[in-house]
Parts: sequence; structure tokens; C-alpha cells
Amino acid sequence: MNMSIKKICCIGAGYVGGPTMTMMASKCPDLIFNVVDINKERIKSWNNTDLSKLPIFEPGLEKLIANTRNKNLFFSTNIKEAIETADIIFISVNTPTKTKGLGAGKSSDLKWVEASAREVAKYSKGYTIVVEKSTLPVRTAEVIEKILNSAETNNSRKEISFSVLSNPEFLAEGTAIKDLDNPDRVLIGGKDEEAMNALSSIYKAWVPEEKILFTNIWSSELAKLTSNAFLAQRISSINSISAICEVTGADIQEVSRAIGKDTRIGSKFLDSGPGFGGSCFKKDILNLVYLAEFFDLHEVAKFWESVVDINNWHQKRISTIVVKTLFGSVANKKLVILGFAFKANTNDTRESAAIKICKDLIIEGADLIIHDPKVSSKQIENALDTRESLDNDKDQKNYIQNNLGKWRFSKSLDIFDNAHAILVLTEWEEYKYINWDKVVKKMVKPSWVFDSRSIINANEVKKAGLNLWRLGDGSQKNEISNF
Ligand code: NAD
Ligand code: UGA
Repeated sequence: MNMSIKKICCIGAGYVGGPTMTMMASKCPDLIFNVVDINKERIKSWNNTDLSKLPIFEPGLEKLIANTRNKNLFFSTNIKEAIETADIIFISVNTPTKTKGLGAGKSSDLKWVEASAREVAKYSKGYTIVVEKSTLPVRTAEVIEKILNSAETNNSRKEISFSVLSNPEFLAEGTAIKDLDNPDRVLIGGKDEEAMNALSSIYKAWVPEEKILFTNIWSSELAKLTSNAFLAQRISSINSISAICEVTGADIQEVSRAIGKDTRIGSKFLDSGPGFGGSCFKKDILNLVYLAEFFDLHEVAKFWESVVDINNWHQKRISTIVVKTLFGSVANKKLVILGFAFKANTNDTRESAAIKICKDLIIEGADLIIHDPKVSSKQIENALDTRESLDNDKDQKNYIQNNLGKWRFSKSLDIFDNAHAILVLTEWEEYKYINWDKVVKKMVKPSWVFDSRSIINANEVKKAGLNLWRLGDGSQKNEISNF
């Protein structure tokens, strides 16, 4: 590498910026990593000496933070200084779906990316490599370049110049440290070869060279959206088949196992569940849909939109089954919700299937008691008591009008007294070890367990005298349709 890289800045200390920079800092002890954010509380949590209070929960993260923080990894709100001294700047800010205005409900809101680019333009010195780490619509690099270059000309600091690269992140929450340590690939898109080599030299500290792919910048941006769209499509596919299993007597576990043995299909990402959640799948597919519509590719747009439509339908299907099974009404019935995070091993609840399912049950008048080992009551309150509604979101409007606020949070699992049913919505390990013999004694009869993650031991539950509904299990066909 010709360029000498010493200092790296990351704008955005979230689920991507935090773990990614921590991994880089642990692999590159000679480089300095400054992670900055406008959110003072978040930065305070990143600096908390009590490592259990980091703002995000990720297995393995605490140990890496203990080894790097305040050595070559620093979390602060001093954005100006971090930019001024950086040779490479990662933009790792949030890019949620727009809720208002042009493209609302589909296109990404780039206001945080734009604000970051403007800060970079304002404070950077000399030559700086600016890296898109956030997931962005195709051709965003052009926007960033325009902002940076116009600052260059507006500014008397003639010596400043930039190279913009795309380097999307593929980590999954809950396995972020493992994914970062051993990525399937590192993707670097750009046209400035020297800048691309400089960025890849950081990864080369631990990633084998053959896993580092160079592409043009638009392919890199599109590959990230496409990767998430393909993954989400697999989940919608398997969940749609789970519905067929339930009415035909087939079993989704067996179907998944059988198709997964085909090496062309592969066995990963074939677990049927309550519908995909997380901050990215839906947002990134809708982004792709917006892009296709923009270029008049309406059939393409419809194809990808159906992946999101099936997911919404599937989540609704689960709450409907619960209501139907409990004799057509859950009004004033106590229902235990096990898990609120969008998947296990994360405290993230964004777009969690639990949100929609809980809202549906609250509208039906249920009395929910919600447990999650890592999610806080405040997060659940933000998710369930939101007053925001999109213009075209009828379900959310209905919820706002009918939200009786009948939910409570519990940190403990001593919550089964007088419950009519238990819904497993997140696959937390501890739910596998519930003593069903003890639980059944506390519940109202007939008592039900609805397992949307297929993690509960069916024999133990049935032996204890509980009724079990498991997603995609067709053997329960006759039992359920009796109600
Ligand atoms: P996040 O909301 O957890 O974090 C983003 C952070 O950026 C926030 O802390 C916010 O305060 C900060 N921020 C916003 N504007 C800022 C500004 N102008 N200056 C400084 N800080 C600012 O989001 P995330 O989950 O880390 O996702 C970030 C991006 O990475 C998104 O584009 C997402 O699609 C993508 N991504 C996320 C994941 C994931 O697992 N969460 C994985 C791959 C890619
Ligand atoms: C996903 C991708 O896996 C990452 O590669 C990508 O970087 C990231 O999105 C992103 O861009 O944000 P993440 O959303 O963290 O990662 O988690 P996943 O493991 O992909 O799970 C997403 C959702 O699908 C979860 O709700 C999960 O429970 C569900 N899922 C996953 C299933 O229902 N079945 C499966 O077989 C796998």
C-alpha cells in the first residue's frame, strides 16, 4: 500500500459501527479507531466500565471491547476531531425507510447519510477515503461525491480531496462477532484502485485475500440489497410452505430437511418462524422495489414486494390461529409472550414479528405478559405504544384506536399463573428448558403452547398435559380445525 493509514473514523456507533470497528481495532492494534455518534447516551453506554451495559448485546463483544477500548478504540461525540484526523471515514449511520414525502414507505431516508457527508466535507483535511458502510440505494455514492466535491470548491482549503468507496456490511445480529471474524466475503466497490487497496489492507490483517472482492461501486451497492432480498425471499418461501404443511398433514421440519440436502438449495436459512424481522430485510427489499419502480420495471417490483407481503400475511396468520384456537376470543385472557427480540442473541426489536403479533392480540383484548432476557421494558413500550402511523397502514391506525395498552413486561419467567396460552416468538435457549410439568399446574385449562420457532420439546409439553401448536406441523390439522 502506498498510502499510509493511521487513523480511522466511523460515523455511527450502532449495531454495525460498534462491532465492526471493535473487530478492526482488535485485528489492527497499530491503527487508531475513533467511533463517533450524535447520540450522547449511546456513546456513554459504549464507554461504560460495566461491560454488561454496552448499548448492544452481541455474544463475544464484551471481551473484544475489554481488549481494545481506550487503547486503540475510542467512542466519543467529538465528530469534528475524529473527521479532521482521519485517513479513512466509514459512514455507518441508520438508513430507515422514509415515513413521509416522496418515496414514503419504500425508499430509504438518506438524511443521516447526507448529514454525515456534509460533516465530512466541512471538517476533513487532506486526502480522505470515504466509505459507505451503511446499506444504501444504488448510486448513493454519486450523491456523497457531489456533496464532498461541492464542499471542496466552496472551500478555500484547496488541498482536500476524497475517494468514495462502497464496503457494505454482511454481519447478522447475534452472530456479529463470528461473522466479522470469519466473513464469507468482504466487498469493496469503487473506481480508485489505490483507495480500494488501502481499505483492503485493513481487512487483510485477518481476512484471506481471496475473500476480498473488488467490484464497481454500483455492483457493490446493489449486491448488498440483493443479498438481503435473497435471504428474506428464502424465509418467505419456507414460511409460505409451512402454511401448506398445516393443511395437508406435512411437516415443515421434514420438508426443510429434505430440500436442504440438495446442495444447490443448501440447508441454511430454511427455519420457518414467525416471519422475518430486523431493521434491514424489509427496508432493503422495499428499497429494491422502489428502484425497480423508478426504472419502470414494474414486474420486477411486484416480484420482490410479494416477499414482504407474504411476511406480513404470515405474521397475521399466526395471531389469527391463536385467537381461533382459543375459542375465537382472547379478550381478557392472559397470554404469555416468550421473546420480543427479532431473533435470539440480540437485544434488537426493530421490525420484530413479536410487535405485529402482540399488537394484533392487544386489539383482540388480550392481556399480555411479555418476557425477553435481553430486551428492556422501555424498548417494548416504544414498539407497542407508538402513535406513529403511515398514511396507508390501516392495521396501525386500527391499533392506535383500539390499543388498550394491556401488556406488562417481566424479567422473570415466573409468569404462568392463570395464563390461557404461551406463545414462543423468539428462539432464546432458555425457553427450551422450561419445566412444563410445573407450568401446566399454574395455567387455565385447556392450556396451550404456540411454538412459532419449533424449539419446544413437543413430547415433554404433551406429556405434561398441554396442547401444543407448532408452526408448520400438519399432524395437528384436525385438532386445530375443530375450534
Ligand atoms: P443504528 O441505528 O443501530 O446506528 C446508527 C447510528 O448512527 C445511531 O447511533 C445514530 O445516532 C448515528 N447517527 C445518525 N446520524 C448521525 C450523524 N450525522 N453523525 C453521527 N452519528 C449519527 O443502525 P445500524 O443497525 O448500525 O445500521 C446502520 C447501517 O448499516 C444501516 O444502513 C443498515 O441497513 C446497515 N446494516 C445493518 C446491519 C445490522 O445488523 N443492524 C447489518 C448490515 C448492514
Ligand atoms: C441480516 C442478514 O443475515 C445479514 O447478512 C445482513 O448483513 C443484515 O441482515 C443486515 O443487512 O442488516 P439480521 O437481520 O441481523 O441479518 O439477522 P438474520 O439472521 O438474517 O435474521 C433475520 C430474520 O429472519 C430474523 O427475524 C430471523 O428470526 C429470521 N429467520 C432467519 C428465520 O425466520 N428463519 C431462518 O432460517 C433465518
